[in-house]
Amino acid sequence: AFAYESLKSHANGIKIGVAGNTLNFNDSAYMSALSNFNYMVAENGCKLPAIQGQRGVYNFNDCDAHLAKAKELGMTFRGHCLIWHAYQPAWFESLRGDDLKKAIVDHITTVLKHYDGKIDAWDVVNEAIDDNSTGSNWKLRSSFLSQNVPDFIDIAFKTARSVSPSTKLFYNDYSADGIYAKTDAVFNFVKDLKSRNIPIDGVGLQYHVSTSAYGHPSYDQVNSLLGRYCQLGVEVHITEMDVKCEGNESQQPQIFADALRACLNNSCCKAFLVWGVGDNDSWLGGSAKGLLFDGTYQPKDSYFALIKAL
Ligand code: XIL
Repeated sequence: AFAYESLKSHANGIKIGVAGNTLNFNDSAYMSALSNFNYMVAENGCKLPAIQGQRGVYNFNDCDAHLAKAKELGMTFRGHCLIWHAYQPAWFESLRGDDLKKAIVDHITTVLKHYDGKIDAWDVVNEAIDDNSTGSNWKLRSSFLSQNVPDFIDIAFKTARSVSPSTKLFYNDYSADGIYAKTDAVFNFVKDLKSRNIPIDGVGLQYHVSTSAYGHPSYDQVNSLLGRYCQLGVEVHITEMDVKCEGNESQQPQIFADALRACLNNSCCKAFLVWGVGDNDSWLGGSAKGLLFDGTYQPKDSYFALIKAL
């Protein structure tokens, strides 16, 4: 181990964050890498299957443990996520019609009441836009949610606002960060929510990208996208950044730095988070080498590129 500067000591007015996981909280090398950030989100611990694995039986232990650790380390905490079509328990996926609507409302109500005043921003809906939709022809992803409760997004945001008016409410998605056609679909979808006065405060751009030639936006692409969101009057968080190495590995530091520089250049971009600490913990698998710390939690060139950008 060697001494190096923390990201949080350079934070430059934005929150600089990471997805933490209680599975690793006993590992001292992991914890010391984690303490370089000033913002935390739980990789899985605050999702519906973690909190309501059984219908109507709420268990906040894991989400609470993430939040307590964040507090202990002086980090603020981000909520992820309330309503999502993927990785859901069978009881939830098998509900239909009004039963599903009621479960959506109950989950949001119970969770936001529990964390009222403790978590200031939540991803209310995750990944609801169809991957092949483009431009103003955006459409919802076909899922048990959209098939059974076509207005589940409106319901989710309105419920969240009424239960916890001070919580910032986000829509979060992938392939929405400047390069794929879905970028404009998500933008127009958010614009539609705003124009219909659905209470949304921000957009989370997941920013799962790769080093391959067409696998990531250029600085200009993401910078202009963030500018359009600022114009629209929403906050932006880069929520889950990782950069999968697939050829052109040496580009990784630049790709991380471009995203952070674009965030710093647009005043509505208030947070930048990466999706995990060390390469071996990543949901992409260790061979993707997608994060800022290596398998032994030493900072990589990509880490220093962010320090330099801040
Ligand atoms: C992933 C976690 O990293 C995995 O551990 C889990 O098995 C599945 O979910 N988009 C999201 C995140 O919004 O919640 C996902 O996290 C990664 C993709």
